[in-house]
Amino acid sequence: MRIFLTGGAGYIGSHTLLEVLSQDHEVCVFDDYSNSTPESLRRVETLTNRKFKTVEGSVLDPQCLTQALQEFKPDAVIHFAGKKAVGESVEKPLMYYENNVVGTLNLLRAMEAANCERIIFSSSATVYGDPQFLPITEDHPLGATNPYGQTKLMAEHILRDWAQSRPTASAVILRYFNPLGAHESGRIGEDPNDIPNNLMPYVAQVAVGRRDRLRVWGNDYDTPDGTGVRDYIHVVDLAKAHAAALGFGETHQGCETINIGTGRGYSVLDVVGAFELAAGRAIPYDIKPRRSGDIATCYADPAKAKRLLGWRAEHDLADMCASTWKWQSQNPDGYDS
Ligand code: UFG
Repeated sequence: MRIFLTGGAGYIGSHTLLEVLSQDHEVCVFDDYSNSTPESLRRVETLTNRKFKTVEGSVLDPQCLTQALQEFKPDAVIHFAGKKAVGESVEKPLMYYENNVVGTLNLLRAMEAANCERIIFSSSATVYGDPQFLPITEDHPLGATNPYGQTKLMAEHILRDWAQSRPTASAVILRYFNPLGAHESGRIGEDPNDIPNNLMPYVAQVAVGRRDRLRVWGNDYDTPDGTGVRDYIHVVDLAKAHAAALGFGETHQGCETINIGTGRGYSVLDVVGAFELAAGRAIPYDIKPRRSGDIATCYADPAKAKRLLGWRAEHDLADMCASTWKWQSQNPDGYDS
């Protein structure tokens, strides 16, 4: 298959790129490197010994996007390009709506011009808001609590309407829970631009000495140890879910929404403990007040992914911590190391 990856140089994009290349697909990566670096692509090329096309461009540039798609003529698009920091989205909502909503519109228009009707979209468990029941199934009520979540919900609506308007189109919306970990080689991984907001990159930077102490946002939640519980999913499992969705999209028509998680929740202190074991060093932390907008517990019902995609998560929390540590210790300053 010919696959067009927007945002293919990013954290999830680069792991998915590696996975689809190893399955012999032809790939074109479209990325503006605003939150990534071409170094991740060079490393994937070395790891897979496969060549692929790259186009430097933004999803906010319809002309560039259309030209890239018309030249490459993909069978399917995987759309990762987008902004993803919750806090930043509250400060710069217009930038988020523009990148994530207008960017998706531009992509669908360019796909129409290139006669491509299959798309896999990166959505997020954030669209479930504060969970009303657990585990979360795909028919759980939706509701975003911040602009980032709103943009994901809007893009989902657009994709659903688009797929409905075209009898032979396929849109597969993957709602990720909390991605962690890195490729087993330790050559690619998560490399946040600024101070990390998310738990694992922060823990990893404390372990490697780039930050002093972890701040645990609240230990008074209604959870076994009082800290927040999430469904952490290994990024390599997540990449494999995209590969499975590509196969599913070949015969599927319409729009399908699928949770990608493990079905198991771990607390912040569980993650800290697992990371300490993997890295063989202590992670000093302080308990701080709750972070605004955080929820107590969130984990997926992943049964639909098993049923439709034949996919389920294979890696556990220990694998996620060990691979993160390998990546972080070999690349203490990320791709600049
Ligand atoms: N946490 C800390 N200290 C930190 C960072 C996080 O204690 O420095 C805690 C949080 O309070 C939470 C847990 O670790 O209990 C996980 O927090 P993350 O920021 O890693 O992840 P979130 O669940 O808040 O959000 C993530 C993504 C969102 C996405 C959401 C989907 O950042 O983009 O998962 O559920 F929408």
